[in-house]
Amino acid sequence: MKQLASGRISENIAVAGNYMYPCYVVGGGGRNLMIEAGLNLMGPLYVKSIEEILGDRGLLSYLFLTHSHYDHLGSVHYLKRLIPGLVVGAHERVAGLLRKESVLAMMNRLSDVQRLLMRDIAGDEDLVIRQTDIGLTLKEGDVIDLGGLSCRVYEVPGHTRDSLAYSIPEIDALFTGEAAGVPQGMDDHTPQVGFLASYEDYLTSLEKLMSLSPRILCLGHAFVFTGEDAAKYLRASYAATFEYRSLIERYLEEADGDVEKAIETMAVKEYDEKGTIRQERNAYLTNLSAQVRLIAGMKGR
Ligand SMILES: [Fe+2]
Repeated sequence: MKQLASGRISENIAVAGNYMYPCYVVGGGGRNLMIEAGLNLMGPLYVKSIEEILGDRGLLSYLFLTHSHYDHLGSVHYLKRLIPGLVVGAHERVAGLLRKESVLAMMNRLSDVQRLLMRDIAGDEDLVIRQTDIGLTLKEGDVIDLGGLSCRVYEVPGHTRDSLAYSIPEIDALFTGEAAGVPQGMDDHTPQVGFLASYEDYLTSLEKLMSLSPRILCLGHAFVFTGEDAAKYLRASYAATFEYRSLIERYLEEADGDVEKAIETMAVKEYDEKGTIRQERNAYLTNLSAQVRLIAGMKGR
């Protein structure tokens, strides 16, 4: 089954925030974990949800980040300020980026584009993303004991170099961030492919995720797949990656290898004319140019 990432997903998983920028609260063991820190401007909504789900925000022990994009770690500083005992876990590279003022400034700029849309949630709270210490640097093979449940860490580069996925094996749940893309829309299950850092790594990471055969698949945006559909989505995402590469290669060929021209034509034909992609146009363009450049650079491989 495919469902929106909101409300209660299973006995042990509930969504904080909303389906656009979901954070997944995993409870039922002795220690509660939240995966993803979404958008900074949604901080107050995350805290409200955490209180509703756990009864007391102080009962959240861990916050694990999936990757270094502003809309997946935005609330980390705010949450750490409001929940002082919270232990934040992330890839070592994310920890480094969260100490860099230039990176933080860029993340704040990107988030601010949504300020008008989020004004009812953000109010006038101070939600600026600031330097945050990562208490726990996470890597492949790490297992965190949640008391009755455990969280396993997988390195899944390709979308970014610092992408991590998390599984809770006791309940066959898998949290991929954006390592497996996101469906294009509510009715369109076709995964939107996102190999922004490396095409080859993205495929290898998808193979790793497929080998875990989850029964609950919680994506970085919008949707959760359960039962047979969880593994089915991952397989579709894998196939879509090859198809997307071929599509990019066709546009590059038509443009005689002119990367800029290929990007421009592809944005018009695939985004403007089809009109089926939910992602905001600027974000789509940023991702598209990263992917076209990667494929152009791979010619002959
Ligand atoms: Fe991302």
